[in-house]
Amino acid sequence: MQQKPAKNLILFASGSGSNVENITRYFAEDSRVRIRGVLCNNPKAGVIERCRRLGLPLYCFNRVAFEDPAGLLSLLRGLEPDLIALAGFLWKIPEPLVTAFPGQIINIHPALLPKFGGKGMYGMHVHRAVVAAREKESGITIHYVNEAYDQGAVIFQAQVALEGTESPEDVAEMVHALEYEHFPPVIHSLLFPRHG
Ligand code: GRF
Repeated sequence: MQQKPAKNLILFASGSGSNVENITRYFAEDSRVRIRGVLCNNPKAGVIERCRRLGLPLYCFNRVAFEDPAGLLSLLRGLEPDLIALAGFLWKIPEPLVTAFPGQIINIHPALLPKFGGKGMYGMHVHRAVVAAREKESGITIHYVNEAYDQGAVIFQAQVALEGTESPEDVAEMVHALEYEHFPPVIHSLLFPRHG
């Protein structure tokens, strides 16, 4: 039987890229999924070294390129994405990209949206705010990207209970563990939806 063409996954990252590495390792044995590219807006990002080490195609861009959606659009269209996953990407996706790939751009947020979301809520800022608010739980939210920060439809959430004694760094570690456990399988379920 003719092997179906592989599904193309595109990842966006601005930081360390531990989620990019985790996703890459998850799909390494699955020939039906290939990471067609990692897009990065930060020349100092740790994800760049990870892409070199993992042999991932890397496309870096600055604000000028990012704000010329036609350029980014032609790059993305050329990579024929089945799914675009933001894995720690800090810029807002421009409207033309959201409309060009309807229902195909997802993001992972390190908190239980709608709480602790929105502009400026990223990385340790989120975990500090959760600890300061004495929350009894934190977790992750995987959601569709729309034109507003962190307000797209929720796809998946996972929680972890907090005792109230954790530092923001402890919460970050607990939330990262949820990201590594759940982001790849959620991506897989979106690439290969089970009908019925
Ligand atoms: C993760 O906490 C993710 O939830 C958020 O950005 C961070 C990315 O971390 N969107 P890394 O660059 O994958 O290590």
